[in-house]
Amino acid sequence: MATRLFESDYHAELYSKYRPKYGKSVSGVIIDFCKTGICDFDLAVDVGCGSGQSTSLLCSAFKNVIGSDVSPNQIENASKNLKNVTFLVSPAEDLGFLSNNSTDLITISQAIHWVDTTKFYKEVTRVLKPGGSLVVYGYGFDQLDKEDAQMKLDRFYFETIAEFWSNKIQLLQRKYEDITLPFDGWIRKDDLEIAADWSVDEFIGFVASSSAWQSYLKVNPSSEELKQLSNRFREIYTRINESGVEEEQKMHITWPVFMLMAHKLSSL
Ligand SMILES: C[S@@+](CC[C@H](N)C(=O)[O-])C[C@H]1O[C@@H](n2cnc3c(N)ncnc32)[C@H](O)[C@@H]1O
Repeated sequence: MATRLFESDYHAELYSKYRPKYGKSVSGVIIDFCKTGICDFDLAVDVGCGSGQSTSLLCSAFKNVIGSDVSPNQIENASKNLKNVTFLVSPAEDLGFLSNNSTDLITISQAIHWVDTTKFYKEVTRVLKPGGSLVVYGYGFDQLDKEDAQMKLDRFYFETIAEFWSNKIQLLQRKYEDITLPFDGWIRKDDLEIAADWSVDEFIGFVASSSAWQSYLKVNPSSEELKQLSNRFREIYTRINESGVEEEQKMHITWPVFMLMAHKLSSL
């Protein structure tokens, strides 16, 4: 069964503001993989597109791009400035807006763990052109550059809000090791990462956009836990500069990226 999260306007807004952006290396891998199959670079569809972070990667290579998501609020927050992209509300399990054998590439980023894969793969098989590509990818838990900050973060994630992570998140934690693609010959790529240098406030915004914190807040609306975490980070990342003035350093954050890729076989 598909899971519905990211539905509230507030959550979608946080998501659009604070989620990390994939770099050119990720888009490069996707485009290069398409070239190893059959690709007219005419139509790419990014399913579970959220507010468009993963969709924008496809704009320069494809003539037409569609970003689809089950959440109207996510779509409302998706960037409307991308010239060749149409955003629309649709579940991954029903891609009725696409005709058979019409699509060069389907991507689904950081979302397949929420989706009913049996139904989604049936739709992927229907809409992809023979030789077209399916790329399923995501990023794992954030890694911080300071050990004491990482310990505080781990305690927050895996003790304070531990019971609010959906069991689907375990699939992400295991870097999609449990997920297989529906076409023979599919491959994995595990050597990329996303990196960012953020202020404490930006990183706290990212943590606040997690599904577990949003679920925790519904039950504990006046919780001070995130504020306390932010205070600890501020202590760790503040130093006295040469002029004797307190200065907040940027947090260096990395996320491991994992990608599963396949071509639809011509016989399907
Ligand atoms: C973690 S966000 C990923 C957004 C974006 N692709 C990215 O890489 O940042 C997961 C998205 O999947 C969407 N989603 C969850 N279940 C879905 C479903 N069954 N069909 C389509 N989208 C779904 C959510 O609404 C949410 O926007």
